[in-house]
Amino acid sequence: MRILAIETSCDETAVAVAHDIDDVIQIETSLVRSQIDIHTVYGGVVPEVGARQHLEMIMPMIARAVRPDGAGIDAIAVTAGPGLAPALRVGVEVAKTLAWTWGKPLVPVCHLEGHIYANWIGDEKTLGTVTIPAFPILALIVSGGHTELVLMRDHGQFERLGETLDDAAGEAFDKVARMLGLPYPGGPAIDALALKGNPHAFAFPRPMLNRDDAMFSFSGLKTAVLYELRKDDTRLTDEGFRADIAASFQEAIVETLVEKTMRTAGKCAPKSIVLAGGVAANALLRNRLTVAAEHRGIPMFLPPFRYSLDNAAMIAAAGYYRAQHGDFTDPLTLVAHPNQDI
Ligand code: KG4
Ligand code: ZN
Repeated sequence: MRILAIETSCDETAVAVAHDIDDVIQIETSLVRSQIDIHTVYGGVVPEVGARQHLEMIMPMIARAVRPDGAGIDAIAVTAGPGLAPALRVGVEVAKTLAWTWGKPLVPVCHLEGHIYANWIGDEKTLGTVTIPAFPILALIVSGGHTELVLMRDHGQFERLGETLDDAAGEAFDKVARMLGLPYPGGPAIDALALKGNPHAFAFPRPMLNRDDAMFSFSGLKTAVLYELRKDDTRLTDEGFRADIAASFQEAIVETLVEKTMRTAGKCAPKSIVLAGGVAANALLRNRLTVAAEHRGIPMFLPPFRYSLDNAAMIAAAGYYRAQHGDFTDPLTLVAHPNQDI
């Protein structure tokens, strides 16, 4: 099956074409147009500005990926939520129009589900030797808007075991980065700066580790960083000091995510653990999860680095499995669901 996928939930316009070989998703085309350069001016994503960019970019990108009559495409997958309403609507309306005029089935995909399914994409380097996660799967979702531990017993079956009570992990990275005067989005900037710092320079809290559940909370950690900076803000001009703050903050957040994931794995005995969401691009998180899962003897799956951040290849992967189960929708009535959860 060959799928055209469209993703416009936030600040990336993305289009992909993919097919499967034995249930492993092979990406033929993956186009991502980031709007970061535009939103950086505002220090964050402005929904209406983002939607306008999606409107300008989406059709030329689709024209690069498929033939004008849709020949060779078996189904169209689109992110229906969660995300920014004006942004989501662009992708949803384009997908509906194409599905109706081409007479192809339309598959709505949850953005978070898409991030999880990035783990079913065959990486070029693995040359067909890629394995796919076995059920039951424990998924750690860490994006700009979500931090969740989800148990997947089968395709399309998601049980949320825990989530954040306040800030998402990616949001905490973005806010601490802003305190350090780093550009938006903050995650990659902290990831890079932390390499030069001492992760034990400051003892920041490991929130919620005293609770024996799968819940997270990152606003206290963010406030602890703010209080440390306020003690003497002249230190902010010192690159070494900023690197120590970045490294110590990253250490606290990664340690918390890994510890909670492994404790939850101890309770629900998954056959595999998968990492998902933009924070999956974080090098320390990838390393620590791999080591911890190996220690417990559970296969750990990391999304290919290039499909960790928002993209449409992952929407194609999730769409493929939804299509296998006949999860199609009416192209005339599909609406975006900005607050959808997994
Ligand atoms: O999944 P994503 O691309 O967009 C949403 O669905 O929200 O996630 C974006 C988040 C941002 O908060 C960004 O700072 C974070 O992922 N991020 C990272 C890294 N790269 C992106 N966080 C930590 N380390 C990174 N290398
Ligand atoms: Zn995302």
